[in-house]
Amino acid sequence: MTRLLILGATGSIGTTALDAVRNGKAEGIVIAGLAASSSPSLPGLGNEFNAPYAYLRGCDTAEVRAFIKETEPDIILNAIAGKEGLPASAAAAEMGIDIALANKESVVMGGRFLLSMAKQSGSRIIPVDSEHSAIYHLLKGRKARRLILTASGGPFIDRRDTGGVTVEEALAHPTWKMGKKITIDSATLANKGLEVMEASLLFGFPPESIEVTIHRQSVVHSAIETEEGAVYALMSPPDMSLPILTAILGEGHGLRNIVQPLPFSSGFSLTFSGWDRAQFPMLGMAYDALRGGDGMRIAYTAADEAVVNAFLDGRIAFSDIPEIVRQTLSAPYPAVCSSLGMIMEVSSEASMAAEALC
Ligand SMILES: NC(=O)c1ccc[n+]([C@@H]2O[C@H](COP(=O)([O-])OP(=O)(O)OC[C@H]3O[C@@H](n4cnc5c(N)ncnc54)[C@H](OP(=O)(O)O)[C@@H]3O)[C@@H](O)[C@H]2O)c1
Repeated sequence: MTRLLILGATGSIGTTALDAVRNGKAEGIVIAGLAASSSPSLPGLGNEFNAPYAYLRGCDTAEVRAFIKETEPDIILNAIAGKEGLPASAAAAEMGIDIALANKESVVMGGRFLLSMAKQSGSRIIPVDSEHSAIYHLLKGRKARRLILTASGGPFIDRRDTGGVTVEEALAHPTWKMGKKITIDSATLANKGLEVMEASLLFGFPPESIEVTIHRQSVVHSAIETEEGAVYALMSPPDMSLPILTAILGEGHGLRNIVQPLPFSSGFSLTFSGWDRAQFPMLGMAYDALRGGDGMRIAYTAADEAVVNAFLDGRIAFSDIPEIVRQTLSAPYPAVCSSLGMIMEVSSEASMAAEALC
């Protein structure tokens, strides 16, 4: 049995993982522990899964470490939303525990600091994001010259004027049901920007070798292109159960019928198209931030989180998001951030700068 600790157990990813265990889709998993930040549903989940639970903040590494020690997991699903997921990932990596990583902010902000700590301790970082999960599996035994990340395009792909967009409209994602932060990021394509950065760091590809294509159906989760020009893609219905469970248990370890089969005999259509920097400035800025070094990636992540919260709170308009991030990124940030303290310092500096513009 694989002992699983879930950080962010009450959110969208945490709930999908627990549903899979509840419904018998993941018989090889036993819940070692559950954590969330404040949701009242946590004690009920602890009782249901007969597992210890804790309210903790991801940024309190002492608390995270203590809970990891108490629960003795084989693997941790880090499904915390936002930048406080990084200190939790760092604690797990330092302790040599494998991480099924949904919290993309961990890699985008932690970069080489997190990855080299994991390498040293022997902790494996296995991506849960459907795009990175696809690439992770496609790269096994294959060399690629290019990564192709798919993006649904979010709710405003056909709407150029986003001036009067309401929070409700921005939260209405066409293909995925997710937490609020990632859903707003999917509407601006900042989520794809974070994913481009995550893919670059996790798989060692430069920004010019990572392409984004708009694929509205969210069936092709991403693709790789080999030197010969062949493209290998991973397809499945849009359901996070598959990348979550394969990250935790691995392929071919007793997982069966996790998602519905695709309806090949009745037929379905897949479309791909390019994206435009004028329509999605947050994605363009993410490529720039990736080229700009550690501080720029951290500042992008922190500024984006601050403006998304300001939009959700009704303090700024949806169309203000890219301009506030652009202004925040116009300040200089260090090219190399080699400790957690320095990363979190740059992050709070950028958060405060973005907040001041909201
Ligand atoms: N949802 C998806 O389909 C999806 C797909 C790919 C990647 N991801 C990534 O997975 C992560 C989680 O996304 P989500 O959609 O599941 O988010 P979510 O629904 O908002 O859930 C977030 C979870 O994190 C907990 N949490 C929030 N802030 C915390 C903090 N400071 N310290 C500790 N726990 C905290 C929340 O606890 P409370 O409920 O107590 O607040 C909740 O359990 C994000 O990084 C996202 O980008 C999500």
